[in-house]
Amino acid sequence: MEKNPDGIFPAGADMVRAATEFKCGDLLRLGTEMPEIRKIIIDTDPGQDDAVAIMAALASPELDVLGLTVVAGNVPLALTEKNARKICELSGRPKTKVFAGAIRPMVRDLVTAENVHGKTGLNGPVLPDPTMPLQDQYAVDFIVETLMREKSGSVTICALGPLTNIGLALVREPRIAPRIREIVLMGGGLFEGGNLTPAAEFNICVDPHAADLVLRSGVPIVIVPLDCTHKVLTTAKRIAAFRDLGTAPGIAVAEMLEFFERFDEAKYGTDGGPLHDPCVIAYLLKPELFSGRHINVEVETVSELTLGMTVADWWGVTNRPKNATYLLEVDDQGVFDLLVERIGRL
Ligand code: BDR
Ligand code: CA
Repeated sequence: MEKNPDGIFPAGADMVRAATEFKCGDLLRLGTEMPEIRKIIIDTDPGQDDAVAIMAALASPELDVLGLTVVAGNVPLALTEKNARKICELSGRPKTKVFAGAIRPMVRDLVTAENVHGKTGLNGPVLPDPTMPLQDQYAVDFIVETLMREKSGSVTICALGPLTNIGLALVREPRIAPRIREIVLMGGGLFEGGNLTPAAEFNICVDPHAADLVLRSGVPIVIVPLDCTHKVLTTAKRIAAFRDLGTAPGIAVAEMLEFFERFDEAKYGTDGGPLHDPCVIAYLLKPELFSGRHINVEVETVSELTLGMTVADWWGVTNRPKNATYLLEVDDQGVFDLLVERIGRL
């Protein structure tokens, strides 16, 4: 078990919980021969990058997607829930359960991001209106019910949007906290700063109070922040690899990413924009592609100037309790190879 010269351990969920120094791949190799099928709930606000994450998850036999819980974020809830169903149908998985959740953040007014994602939230490809049903149950109730029903420690939550649904579930039934295996969330930024404000990343800033609640919950948390996702760029060559799959899902992903990247390309002057949310699914499938540190991360909920900032104690300058694994480094080509391979299965 080696630590690199920076003292950065390869990240991995159970590794962190046990405070060991295993490489993530070692953990898998040390486990039983039978590949584990991981039960997940995807909480999401699609969003083109959410869409690619959902598609990759639905294509992955290692993951059992118990349901998609949808939240208001990139666009209002009426659109995000519809987009989630469009993506399931595009993926050929119309039986996937999709639940609508919070229509707005806990305290703040909703801030949306049509400037990034387009008017529908899923601009790019022309996708038909979904015919599969939206579940009747409220997403927050589904999260609570599922966690209370399934074996304790068996369900992982993948959070790809503002954390409102998850925060509400934790308030509604605090007994779910110790039953959650792990929350892997896309959000926050340290060295990269923010993308909604100079200090704050979109998912955290839209509902900082929910994010604060989640980070204080005691649940094992892995954070995939901008520091990581800004290294995973949708270059022309990488988008071509999706299109070259020649399938409806592959072509739709290429069209989504071409629309999605234009905003960040203009902003950062890069070939390609950051592909945020699929990193969460890539982490579950291949944690060895990522590395980070287990540190203290807290959210600013008071200051007007820095509201929603993730204050991450990367250098360990405080004694505040370590509550999250903060991913910083990523094998970006490895992530794209994985995603293309998975989308190619749909
Ligand atoms: C996050 O905000 C949304 O725009 C994306 O879908 C992603 O979840 C990136 O800051
Ligand atoms: Ca998202």
